[in-house]
Amino acid sequence: MSARSAGGRVLIASNRGPLSFTAGDNGQLTARRGGGGMVSGLSTVAGEGDVLWVCAALSEADRAAARDAPGGRLGLDGTPGGAGVRLLDIGEATFDAAYNAVANSALWFIHHLLYDTPNRPAFGTDFRRDWESFRSYNAAFAEALAADAGPADSQPPARAVVQDYHLSLVPRMLAELRPDIRIAHFSHTPWAPPDYYRILPDQAARELLEGILGADHAGFLSQRWADSFLDCCAGILGASVDRAARRVSYRGHVTSVAVHPLGVDADELIARAAEPDVQARLAALTKTAGRTRVIVRVDRTELSKNIVRGLAAYRELLITRPQWRGQVTHVAFAYPSRTDLPEYRAYTAHVQRLASEINEEFGTADWQPLILEVVDDYARSLAAYRIADVAVVNPIRDGMNLVAKEIPIVSDHGCVLVLSREAGAADELGSEALLVNPYDVAATAEALHEALSMTAAERIRRSAALAKAGAAMPPQLWFAQQLAALGP
Ligand code: F6P
Repeated sequence: MSARSAGGRVLIASNRGPLSFTAGDNGQLTARRGGGGMVSGLSTVAGEGDVLWVCAALSEADRAAARDAPGGRLGLDGTPGGAGVRLLDIGEATFDAAYNAVANSALWFIHHLLYDTPNRPAFGTDFRRDWESFRSYNAAFAEALAADAGPADSQPPARAVVQDYHLSLVPRMLAELRPDIRIAHFSHTPWAPPDYYRILPDQAARELLEGILGADHAGFLSQRWADSFLDCCAGILGASVDRAARRVSYRGHVTSVAVHPLGVDADELIARAAEPDVQARLAALTKTAGRTRVIVRVDRTELSKNIVRGLAAYRELLITRPQWRGQVTHVAFAYPSRTDLPEYRAYTAHVQRLASEINEEFGTADWQPLILEVVDDYARSLAAYRIADVAVVNPIRDGMNLVAKEIPIVSDHGCVLVLSREAGAADELGSEALLVNPYDVAATAEALHEALSMTAAERIRRSAALAKAGAAMPPQLWFAQQLAALGP
């Protein structure tokens, strides 16, 4: 099914878009693919038919690209004046407050249960000010979508598919501006249980829920997250929740709620992983790993990804199961992420410190136990996927985690997946993965041992089943489901 199938105009809205620009020394702008699971999911459906992707300029280079293009309009390849993308040049201060202070320091922390509650958060007047910016930023999206939705009498009406926590206020704002169009919202994060969600200031907590309930359809990656959302709607807003029919009624409007578990386009990924830049990195990595078994992890440098406990579990493995010393290499690749936030810079430094300690403690003249690279190199990640005997995905909490689905699809000789039970991906992969409690370092170390000790036949069988499950809902189908929930 194509993105638009029989329908009219389709609008996608997300904070991060399919393009990210960098400026060279001479000011020349170069476009690259935007990062993250949400963008890779949507990139495969954008460009099909009458689809416009509205996203924010995230950096100074993005803002320059938006200013250079008439109306911020670009092709999906970055060509100014193209038709696929509209880059919103939201003022830097407003964007910074909305993205860094509200979305990533408050909402992300709430949904991933990341606060150190005896100390943080403390919502003061600065948060009230930042919340105003968050409203303005959401309003800029709602206005852009309203303006691009075509004439009010379009038949069939335009459909807007709004993505993620950054844009939770958009559906309600957009519905007020354009009651004629159909609106979906999709959450790529978990949703916090009510007791934790209530940490937010009351007004903000209500507004976010009311914002999403402005949509006709609300999508989630896991039933757990959908259930938490319904619990918050009932407990905090007093909305009428019909769990059997998966519908919420609030102030005369009905929102359907469903789970759409995003997966991987296996053919595309396998083809990408066979390209020359991946082959070149594969050769280098294979040489470094020598004849050892390989444990792979690939993440953003993200607090919720639990990299520190993952490395601690590897250290525990080398202590408690010394037979693996010299026999295994841990390849940990991390993409720098959210570096404007001090917590993320400190976390990355912690990861790097721990990696050096492990190498100093156990390394020998001819064996480096851990290879950690903090660099944005997608081809190198794919090379690591290919040589993985074991994949570790141990987030504290994660909406889905596409890496867990990607590695088994790409691994050359099958891999065992050690997977956090708190990742949305555990719903579909849990029966063939080794599930772990992400806080239990000793149990994670034991799972690594079990994974490394598994027979080749069992590893290959499990990996094939994981690959099949990971490819069950490719992005095209995932997106088509959201559109179908809005009607033709
Ligand atoms: O997948 C969840 C998500 O927050 C996306 O919305 C986002 O694009 C991605 O993770 C990466 O985060 P960021 O855009 O802040 O780098």
